[in-house]
Amino acid sequence: MRLILLGAPGAGKGTQAELVARKLNIPTISTGNILREAIKNRTEVGVIAKSFIDNGMLVPDDVVIGIVRDRLSREDCQKGYILDGVPRTIPQAQALLDQGVQIDRVISIEVADEVIARRMSGRRVCPVCGAPYHIVSNPPKIEGICNACGGTLVTRNDDKPETVVERLTVYHERTEALKGFYEKLGKLRLVEGNQPIEDVNRDVMAALGEEI
Ligand code: AP5
Ligand code: MG
Repeated sequence: MRLILLGAPGAGKGTQAELVARKLNIPTISTGNILREAIKNRTEVGVIAKSFIDNGMLVPDDVVIGIVRDRLSREDCQKGYILDGVPRTIPQAQALLDQGVQIDRVISIEVADEVIARRMSGRRVCPVCGAPYHIVSNPPKIEGICNACGGTLVTRNDDKPETVVERLTVYHERTEALKGFYEKLGKLRLVEGNQPIEDVNRDVMAALGEEI
């Protein structure tokens, strides 16, 4: 299964990616998590990415395309993978096609902008493994601690309300067009994201049904 999860910031891509990855035993490739790790480690890519991410803008296509190419060539991607947050622009999607990457399914998790703003204020993430939580809708078993790896949860730098507004604008201007791109290729399925996490997951698995 080679799956792309599309959706606005906060739509639930990371949350669903984690659930699907566990069920299908395939890795998740989240460019957001890879870039945040690079920023933490102050790598060359991290230095370039930081100001874009902090301002809610997209990191340049060539940087992201290089990261994904390297990551997909690793051994653990042979059985399939979930792309979370990439591609995010038409040139990124075109680069995947040009590299011969065959995608089985593209799922867009649909959530209205008004719902997103509420969600983001309650999000906490694990800086070690990237797992997302929500203080109300998806709390960790022990307050402030990641269920998966024991990391101490933090608030993401780009979850400030004004940055969330910018990220939503960028989504509508640059990323939403990917729905039409994959619709034309017959790969797109829409899933209602404004329902409990388990119900979204049921619908995501159903949308994959014919492919697994
Ligand atoms: P990235 O990390 O990909 O962020 P994003 O797309 O803005 O999406 P989020 O991670 O914020 O949201 P999500 O959809 O994963 O939602 P989550 O599951 O956490 O990218 C960050 C930045 O990196 C970008 O702005 C850009 O600068 C750069 N970047 C990354 N990839 C790039 C690329 N390809 N090209 C260029 N630049 C790139 O859920 C959100 C919250 O809601 C959580 O608290 C969760 O617990 C809760 N929640 C989830 N589902 C539900 C539900 N059904 N009901 C209630 N609450 C829910
Ligand atoms: Mg995410």
